[in-house]
Amino acid sequence: MNVLVNRRLCQGHYLLRLGGKEFPPTKPGQFVQLQCRIPGTQAGWSEVQVAPGDWPELTGRELAQGEPILRRPLSLAGRRDTEFDVELEIIYSVVGKGTSWLAQAAEGDEISVLGPLGNAFAVSETKPHAALVGGGVGIPPMIFLASAMQSADKNAVAFCGARSVDMLPVTLAPGVEIAADGQPSAGISQFAQFGVDSVIATDDGTLGWKGFVTEPLAAWLDALPDAPNTAVVYTCGPEPMMRAIAELCIARNVECQVSLERHMACGMGTCQSCVCKIKSEAEAGWSHKLCCTHGPVFNAADIVWG
Ligand SMILES: Cc1cc2nc3c(=O)[nH]c(=O)nc-3n(C[C@H](O)[C@H](O)[C@H](O)COP(=O)(O)OP(=O)(O)OC[C@H]3O[C@@H](n4cnc5c(N)ncnc54)[C@H](O)[C@@H]3O)c2cc1C
Ligand code: FES
Repeated sequence: MNVLVNRRLCQGHYLLRLGGKEFPPTKPGQFVQLQCRIPGTQAGWSEVQVAPGDWPELTGRELAQGEPILRRPLSLAGRRDTEFDVELEIIYSVVGKGTSWLAQAAEGDEISVLGPLGNAFAVSETKPHAALVGGGVGIPPMIFLASAMQSADKNAVAFCGARSVDMLPVTLAPGVEIAADGQPSAGISQFAQFGVDSVIATDDGTLGWKGFVTEPLAAWLDALPDAPNTAVVYTCGPEPMMRAIAELCIARNVECQVSLERHMACGMGTCQSCVCKIKSEAEAGWSHKLCCTHGPVFNAADIVWG
């Protein structure tokens, strides 16, 4: 696919929009694997070819310079289909070699995209209320999920957490006041476009609620009539945040779907690098599952954190 837009959203995050003639159907919660270097052999780099039963042949340059040989997993933040093409949106944070390469990709550059990969969030057929809780780079999949909530006619609220306002990977709607008491408003453009209000929480109080996003979420759930039968919480973000949200929901008997992010190599069930522990009938009470193919979305009540 080709880069249509690649621009800074805030201090630490970029918005990448890729366009192509076609792309298979996608669902919120799924991710893609981006090749973070020039495709083909144009600059001496190519996909490393491995014949069955053989070892990979690396040129030495890849190893010596720490080239991002493996693709990098990134969640889908949105998709737009027109009569002629498909656009995919990704929001990413620059943390290392691969994402630094991505940050300097220019309009028109070609990026090889593998996907869609993984399962997806299951939008409840019966429960009318939804909380979409994202922390940092866990916010992008919630934007894609917000579009599905609008299509399913749900009463959804997005809860977005970040260390400070500079690290919030969203666009603030002009003229909309962000409440410091954790009350939802149409303050985040990416959610407001789907009719979804949002709550912002920052650790340092530079915008919205001062503290963790779990606090306004708990207040919102407690104010709902019969939350166990009417609400679902969907979450993605740092693991301590998701664990706290899972515990908060389990304590209230509220369904919660968690998108686990593990270090991934292949992204398609081959390398076994992305295991997590999921409750099962096995003697230990749990079995290993793969985040890339069985997940990344799991039922919070099934996860063995550790
Ligand atoms: C299913 C899935 C969806 C993801 N979605 C997004 C997204 O929408 N936006 C986004 O910005 N990032 C997302 N990530 C994380 C992203 O894949 C990593 O930040 C990226 O691969 C880092 O590549 P790099 O070459 O820049 O950094 P590297 O040089 O590979 O690593 C730099 C640092 O980042 C850490 N890191 C690398 N991969 C991960 C990971 N999976 N989880 C936590 N830390 C990691 C490394 O430990 C190291 O400290 C997702 C990860 C997964 C598994
Ligand atoms: S990333 Fe290779 S098995 Fe999951």
